[in-house]
Amino acid sequence: MASVPSLASTVQQRLADALSAALPEAGSADPLLRRSDRADFQANGILALAKQLKGNPRELAAKVVGALAAGDLLQEIEVSGPGFLNITVTDRAIVETLAARAADDRLGVPYNEQAGTTVIDYAQPNVAKEMHVGHLRSAVIGAAMVEILEFTGEKVVRRHHIGDWGTQFGMLIQYLVEHPHELDHDKGETVSGEEAMSSLGRLYKASRTLFDSDEEFKARARDRVVALQAGDPETLARWQQFVDESKIYFYSVFGKLDMEIHDADVVGESGYNDMLNDTCRFLEESGVAVRSEGALCVFFDDVLGPDGKPTPLIVQKSNGGFGYAATDLSAIRDRVQNLGADTLLYVVDARQALHFRMVFETARRAGWLNDRVKAVQLAFGTVLGKDGKPFKTREGETVRLVDLLDEAVEHATEVVREKDTRGELTEEEIAERGTQVGVGAIKYADLSTSATRDYRFDLDQMVSLNGDTSVYLQYAYARIQSIKRRAGATGPAAHPELALAPAERALALHLDRFSETIAEVAAAYEPHKLAAYLYQLASHLTKFYDQCQVLSDANPPEVVENRLFLIDLTARTLHQGMALLGIRTPERL
Ligand code: ARG
Repeated sequence: MASVPSLASTVQQRLADALSAALPEAGSADPLLRRSDRADFQANGILALAKQLKGNPRELAAKVVGALAAGDLLQEIEVSGPGFLNITVTDRAIVETLAARAADDRLGVPYNEQAGTTVIDYAQPNVAKEMHVGHLRSAVIGAAMVEILEFTGEKVVRRHHIGDWGTQFGMLIQYLVEHPHELDHDKGETVSGEEAMSSLGRLYKASRTLFDSDEEFKARARDRVVALQAGDPETLARWQQFVDESKIYFYSVFGKLDMEIHDADVVGESGYNDMLNDTCRFLEESGVAVRSEGALCVFFDDVLGPDGKPTPLIVQKSNGGFGYAATDLSAIRDRVQNLGADTLLYVVDARQALHFRMVFETARRAGWLNDRVKAVQLAFGTVLGKDGKPFKTREGETVRLVDLLDEAVEHATEVVREKDTRGELTEEEIAERGTQVGVGAIKYADLSTSATRDYRFDLDQMVSLNGDTSVYLQYAYARIQSIKRRAGATGPAAHPELALAPAERALALHLDRFSETIAEVAAAYEPHKLAAYLYQLASHLTKFYDQCQVLSDANPPEVVENRLFLIDLTARTLHQGMALLGIRTPERL
């Protein structure tokens, strides 16, 4: 495992050295290097420097150029415009850098030296309720952030903060107590996720009907809430039945999403019950929270209701009940003090932004968050239908996640079948690829737009072979694998002595930016920038194919090997990048 400095960072360093040699009075100025279309890189830093030193920028630039040592790295440097530097690196430096990447399992991507511990709160559905598209976003974005952060060396603790507590359980449990066999399954029988959900759904409806029509049942349901909170054993056992049944359902949906969820990481709201009293006592004693009309509240100068009066965060209701906020505050204490987190990341719907702002600020006032421990909401927008309105079924209900997944897989399977014009795939292979393409399409659509933005759910577009889709990337990967198979005994080998064609250079320079992309994406929690990087990589590959034949008899053997080397590294980069996004790259499509 050797981290490989990118060409950009090597050039940047070279320029910085030349700058301080040529202009010692400038101190350690930043040459401000960036990728450029005119040359490989452009440095703009000398302009600002000239202003500061009151010199002529073009003259200063010429001085810096003079101080650059000739060598294997730089092909050409010219002073252009008011005093920019246009820099072209040698083909040799490009191929050698990529060869060093290829020799490393991690493609030369360094570990973050400042890595710490991040607790990620994601994939948090609610017990006894259907999962919807919002839960999909949290799961998909959260899982990608887990993989990306772990890849950079961060220690990541996963937390699925499922909604498994609250007054609605009084009604459900009371119904189950009065109809004790509703959730029973025959011994030894495995229950599918759909079966689990449909028995929960039936139970929910039946108990709701009774609750709304029968005053006496309503009263018994209220008493049941009290018994639940008091920890009455029979009540707890019934509650546990709901949780277990729901987990069967959750795990089956996550399985469909091709995502692993581990039992130990599922710590729902109920997991913090023992801490709630202490949390409130501490907040009240420290004066962070105050009693107001019987409730324990935290006030904020900048959070006002429509009436202009401050809207508090309610930590404990006047009847003594605890809500969502008390649980979240207790979870912060647990994650910081027991799990040793220095970052708390919450992948939650943007509509909960005010809740988290108030919770984080309260935790800061209480000292649970501070300069060394930060909390961030990775907020995501709403999933919209084709019509641009919040995604609903024709009947106006929120769309069930499972239906979406099934539909996407069905659709993708058709695409795979049509594409297989020569009938080379077995039915089984078509089904397997259909699943990988369909699930990939849903994930990619979610990950390729900035999380904060709402996005339109459009299946046709998502499984389209052209454009910014996962299928396009999967085909790019499979096509490379197919060329490698056809190359037979000729394997990839780097030849730094060869001159590169423009399309080869463009592809290669983009490959070299993988490390920097990962670092940026991890630091800013922006998986869509990884998706954009991979899409650009596939686009460079398409241009490369247009302009450069790989397996052609007209090519000398070393050109074939060098091109195989370039596309092989492209395939590995695509595979690694897609894996970080949770998307499979089938070997054949
Ligand atoms: N279960 C909640 C929902 O479905 C999301 C939980 C988010 N996490 C948290 N720590 N509050 O909306």
